[in-house]
Amino acid sequence: MSKKTSLSGIQPSGRPHVGNYFGAMKQWVELQNQDYDCHYMIVDYHALNTIQNGAEMKDNILNLTIDLMAIGLDPKKCLIFKQSDVSAHTELAWILETITTMPYLMRAHAFKDAEAKNKEISVGKFAYPILMAADILLYDIDVVPVGQDQKQHVEYARDTAQKFNHLFGETFKLPESLIVKDVAIVPGTDGQKMSKSYNNTIPLFATKEEITKAVMSIVTDSSGETPMNVYNIHKLLKPEAELKVLYEANKGKYKVLKEALIEDLENFIKPLRENREKLAQDIPFVMKVLKEGAEKARTKADAKLKKVKKVIGVSF
Ligand code: ADP
Ligand code: TRP
Repeated sequence: MSKKTSLSGIQPSGRPHVGNYFGAMKQWVELQNQDYDCHYMIVDYHALNTIQNGAEMKDNILNLTIDLMAIGLDPKKCLIFKQSDVSAHTELAWILETITTMPYLMRAHAFKDAEAKNKEISVGKFAYPILMAADILLYDIDVVPVGQDQKQHVEYARDTAQKFNHLFGETFKLPESLIVKDVAIVPGTDGQKMSKSYNNTIPLFATKEEITKAVMSIVTDSSGETPMNVYNIHKLLKPEAELKVLYEANKGKYKVLKEALIEDLENFIKPLRENREKLAQDIPFVMKVLKEGAEKARTKADAKLKKVKKVIGVSF
């Protein structure tokens, strides 16, 4: 029997944070170690909607590749590659766009949010869910490990696969999202969803000073005895039974509780930071990982695209 498959992606749009890790990337490593056939991608063409500076994009891509390996993704056990190296992604996205309607894409949360904020939205951003559908459908994926905010996007991939299969015959596997309930939406320092775009993150490879600064900036509600914004981040790192004792013994002592969180974050981040420092010394190795990952991904994706082009009647 063939192995179950998993695929996910992250944009090279800034430093990954604790929310990315607990919400998604931790599951990437677990699936790799559970003998799934795993595909993890740096989705640079998605990020091009926001990062429109060549030098910054290049830096972000290299840094993110190092980050992925520093958390434990092993290029011997899973594919690590960047989206732009496999042109089948954009080619399939085009094909899928021809069977997708505007009103359907206008129902996407990301589009509605941008519209509500009166933002001018690029065609690339509008069609974002379809490029993501192509990313997934090219590899016959079973599970897509992501945070809650990506649930709708995985549903778009599923619906689009169904529509294509209905029109042209059984071609694509229907993927499922894998969302871990307790960490589906990790809160940031302001209590909102932690996000690169909200300036409320704890970077995953933060220095001790950065951890301290971020934790000290956590917004606390002076009316209660338990600072919930501190507690909700703390529970990512310690079992709730242990935390209850700590928070019970230090009711109202926000500084003590924040200091405890700083220490637990430092203990969690330090080994990751050290892995990262080692990997960052060998950039040729990092480039080789991306190159070899792309070659393997290309072989799979091109074979799938060939079948698609046959069923739609453009190659014979
Ligand atoms: P960001 O919102 O910070 O730009 P990305 O869009 O790069 O994050 O997300 C990469 C992955 O991390 C996705 O699977 C996303 O669902 C997950 N993720 C991002 N922020 C959070 C969060 N606060 N809680 C849980 N998962 C998250
Ligand atoms: N849209 C995802 C995000 O912003 C990134 C992404 C692109 C992705 N393609 C994907 C995630 C395919 C899972 C599968 O986080």
